[in-house]
Amino acid sequence: MRGRFITFEGIDGSGKSTQLAATASALRAGGIDVLQTREPGGTQLGEALRSMLLQRRMSPLTETLLMFAARVEHIDEVIVPALGTGHWVLCDRFTDATYAYQWGGRGIAQEWIASLESWSHPTLQPDLTVVVDLEPQQAALRRAREREPDRFEAQDAAFFARVREVYLARARAEPNRFLVVDGSRPGPQIVTQILERVKPWRA
Ligand code: TMP
Repeated sequence: MRGRFITFEGIDGSGKSTQLAATASALRAGGIDVLQTREPGGTQLGEALRSMLLQRRMSPLTETLLMFAARVEHIDEVIVPALGTGHWVLCDRFTDATYAYQWGGRGIAQEWIASLESWSHPTLQPDLTVVVDLEPQQAALRRAREREPDRFEAQDAAFFARVREVYLARARAEPNRFLVVDGSRPGPQIVTQILERVKPWRA
């Protein structure tokens, strides 16, 4: 028995965390065991690394390495065990975020990220990655309404445009793994689209 591994991605302010929570509730209501988690984070060490990553100044390479350090703990301690007991793991960001933010946003070489990916999780990949897509300007407005910016959220519109472009390019390259949803649509419509996509796994 293996559960399903579903990751949610999008630029900050796209609404992906809200859609993840709503999808988790809908799946639970349908009798599925769901584990909700996030990156960076999801373990004690991962959450400590998260605080540093969101607040402290560091080089883009250090940032990349710490993202993977947190991820390895998360995979070993949380994701793989939960999948093994049949849970569906809904994870707020995963390695696609490192390509989008550290390659697209910060300019770290794509091949370095690919190497780290192959050391950190040579076989594990999400069964589905939902990209909640939103225009950077709209996302910036949402963020401004909701919270004080962290180190990533303080980046400019050009940074988020590059991050978004990497997400969309990865989705085009792997249409079987990705589902791109329009983040400007009402939440219930987005959740319906996601549920439709996972329907074959529930039979
Ligand atoms: P969150 O706001 O979605 O919780 O994620 C925290 C921030 O971390 C977000 O601004 C994106 C960033 N991030 C990366 O830059 N690379 C990564 O690999 C991950 C998982 C997150």
